[in-house]
Amino acid sequence: MVHTNIIAATKSDPGRLLIQGGVNLSGHLPVSGAKNSALALMAGTLLACGPSLIHNVPPLADITILSKLLQSMGVRVERTGNSLTIDPTYITTHRAPYEMVSQLRASFFILGPLLARLGMARVPLPGGCAIGARPVDLHVRGLSALGAEVSIEHGIVEARATQLRGTHIYLDYPSVGATETIMMAATLAEGETILENAAREPEVSDLANFCIALGAQIQGAGTPQIVIKGRPHLHAAEYTVIPDRVETVTLLIAGAITNSTVTIGPVVVEHLSAPLTKLRDIGYRVELVGADTLQIAPGAARIGVDLETLPFPGFPTDMQALFTALLAVAEGTSIITERVYENRLGHVAELRRMGADIRTHDRIAIVQGVSHLSGAPVQATDLRAAAALIIAGLAAHGQTEIRGLHHLDRGYQDLEGKLRAVGARIERVISPEV
Ligand code: UD1
Repeated sequence: MVHTNIIAATKSDPGRLLIQGGVNLSGHLPVSGAKNSALALMAGTLLACGPSLIHNVPPLADITILSKLLQSMGVRVERTGNSLTIDPTYITTHRAPYEMVSQLRASFFILGPLLARLGMARVPLPGGCAIGARPVDLHVRGLSALGAEVSIEHGIVEARATQLRGTHIYLDYPSVGATETIMMAATLAEGETILENAAREPEVSDLANFCIALGAQIQGAGTPQIVIKGRPHLHAAEYTVIPDRVETVTLLIAGAITNSTVTIGPVVVEHLSAPLTKLRDIGYRVELVGADTLQIAPGAARIGVDLETLPFPGFPTDMQALFTALLAVAEGTSIITERVYENRLGHVAELRRMGADIRTHDRIAIVQGVSHLSGAPVQATDLRAAAALIIAGLAAHGQTEIRGLHHLDRGYQDLEGKLRAVGARIERVISPEV
């Protein structure tokens, strides 16, 4: 039985999720704005004077942390519904506080805009995280190439430049964050910057479009070569964040694993080529049923597939855990190779607790499909692992209890509420354990 003594999650205790699996879903699942776009855009507002208005910003823990960080630096941040007004006109410092940067890697993205607009920036290193070491060497090298003096001492990156200068930069790896940092800084540099081997993720294009709305001159975002012609000043703008492609796929797979027919939207289908191809290869019927709505329906069978995570347009690492959960109940063997992060298979041990047959070797997971999963107490190890365990719980026989929900709350807007609205038996409880 799902417990009934449900109260709102508190800051200190995000509670546990209880899921009764095996329930069919039906209806429409709404997609929120993209977390990773919104975070980058929030940093991007620092490039201009005046209040920018950003729509479709989901109320997530990560967004709140970055809002508080900006506020602590004298930036006005106000939320009205899903819109954020951010006014950095009276920013009081170029120093970002360690306590907040350490909570959120994406807060490092303020380094480039702060440097470009104020001529100096001090931002603590974000440190490692559960899924890998995640260095920032490419961000630092890019800013140095633009003429900044960058030093790293006592865990703090300090960058200075009276005037950044456009240049030719080749990224050793198409890092999303480094592309965003360099692109933002280059918008206020003198002259032209050509960024080669740039990340092509949709969130990079969204940030570029936002910067263009601020008055920046950027061409080629979404391709490996981005050309930025620096401008002396940028102005505030109004902009709407794209739909979250990782949430889209989370909801698609919730439908898939329960063999349900559901619709999901709004979506930008061009952002979803790799995951949609894999879902069809497994055997699902996925089609557009409106300008921006996808429908997923079960096919005759579900067959294991191999997948390998890569930078966009390759298969996204942020969707790997979700597919691992789905493939755990597909027929035959699937080989999953994680190429982006060195330590992103934390969900596998928990899926095994639910009866999945998965062996790992280094960054490879070999999944032997089983006929069913069985509910169990499990622990989320990172954001997407949390979502993958929910997916598994939706299909498992019996009750699944998921802890570690602070990870989930970082990046999903009321995922359990959305799933409940289409029939899932999922509740969050904060009751004392029995
Ligand atoms: C962003 C996303 C994250 C996603 C990732 C890859 C945000 C807030 N987060 O993270 O959800 O998983 O893209 O799609 O947008 N690297 C270096 N040196 C650097 C920078 C990165 O070695 O200077 C390495 C990282 O350790 C990692 C790989 O490059 O192994 C990819 O990182 P990157 O593309 O930069 O990801 P993020 O921008 O951190």
